[in-house]
Amino acid sequence: MSGSNDHIGTASRRYGKATIADAEALLRRGGLVAVPTETVYGLAADSTNAAAVAEIYRTKGRPDFNPLIVHVPDLHAATMLGQFNDLAVEFAETFWPGPLTLVVPKAVNCPVVPAVTAGLDTIALRCPAHPVMRELLSIPGLFLAAPSANRSGGISPTTADHVTRSLGDAVPLILDGGACEKGIESTIIAVDDGDYRILRPGPVTPAQLAAIAGKPAATSDRGTIEAPGQLLSHYAPAKPVRLDIETAQCDEYHIGFGAVPGDINLSAHSDLAEAASQLFAALHLAEASEKPRIAVAPIPDSGIGLALNDRLRRAASPR
Ligand code: TXA
Ligand code: MG
Repeated sequence: MSGSNDHIGTASRRYGKATIADAEALLRRGGLVAVPTETVYGLAADSTNAAAVAEIYRTKGRPDFNPLIVHVPDLHAATMLGQFNDLAVEFAETFWPGPLTLVVPKAVNCPVVPAVTAGLDTIALRCPAHPVMRELLSIPGLFLAAPSANRSGGISPTTADHVTRSLGDAVPLILDGGACEKGIESTIIAVDDGDYRILRPGPVTPAQLAAIAGKPAATSDRGTIEAPGQLLSHYAPAKPVRLDIETAQCDEYHIGFGAVPGDINLSAHSDLAEAASQLFAALHLAEASEKPRIAVAPIPDSGIGLALNDRLRRAASPR
């Protein structure tokens, strides 16, 4: 895939023993490495190094009020950074490693620099399942802050090629591990006291969470943006997007689903997990196409469909 593509820069290298050693050396001296995870590619740096963290924000053009997720190898490591109550432990034991991020109070001696959490007294922690990311996380003492490896506000990357298109030469090393399996960012939940709130829908569905917690998520009533990924315009292609469209106009690149064929179809047999894995790649294709506008077929608002529609609403919202 990558070898034949013009857009791939020299920074993109197939993952292997030598590239992991180079990645470790780069991370240890405060550099950035783009790494595949099962959700999307992340832009990783040492979360205990202030200069490295500043470089993440600069490279993404990310506002400094938008905190980063810290990636850990297991729950034990997570408890050095955050405080886990019984419910948080239960979620971690059930869904880790996997596409769930837990926002918990910061641990008292948390070594992560304040910029990572944008000054908040909570921290977002995730234990990913992807073997490449896990290999980096097995390096002792490395806690990796890693937002999605795209320019702030743009479409998330699910291939090494997407990372190169979005960030170009700004990233010294991109570990190419192929396409991401889930294709949509982790579910983020905040756990405080006995309750939990869904801050960003994702591959772990509300029903799966409720089955573990024994109750549905509490509704977020704080009136402020808790996860700035919830900003209304996000994941946005550089073209207008219309949703719930069964018949597109001739100047629209049509993203289909199920019986609505489209120029590309997210899942011909209406499988929402398959559709999620294809969504960002389809938006990248739509953005690169000659058509000036994008239309997207209706997608059921249940299960992972909730996460798909969440991303699509933000992609379509005025900016
Ligand atoms: O699947 C994923 O989560 C990917 C991969 C690379 O792990 N990462 C990812 O990171 O999507 P990013 O930076 O694109 O999105 C992180 C979201 C942001 O919306 C941020 O506002 C929220 O996590 N966040 C981070 N720390 C938080 C905190 N303490 N409280 C609330 N939200 C937080
Ligand atoms: Mg992102």
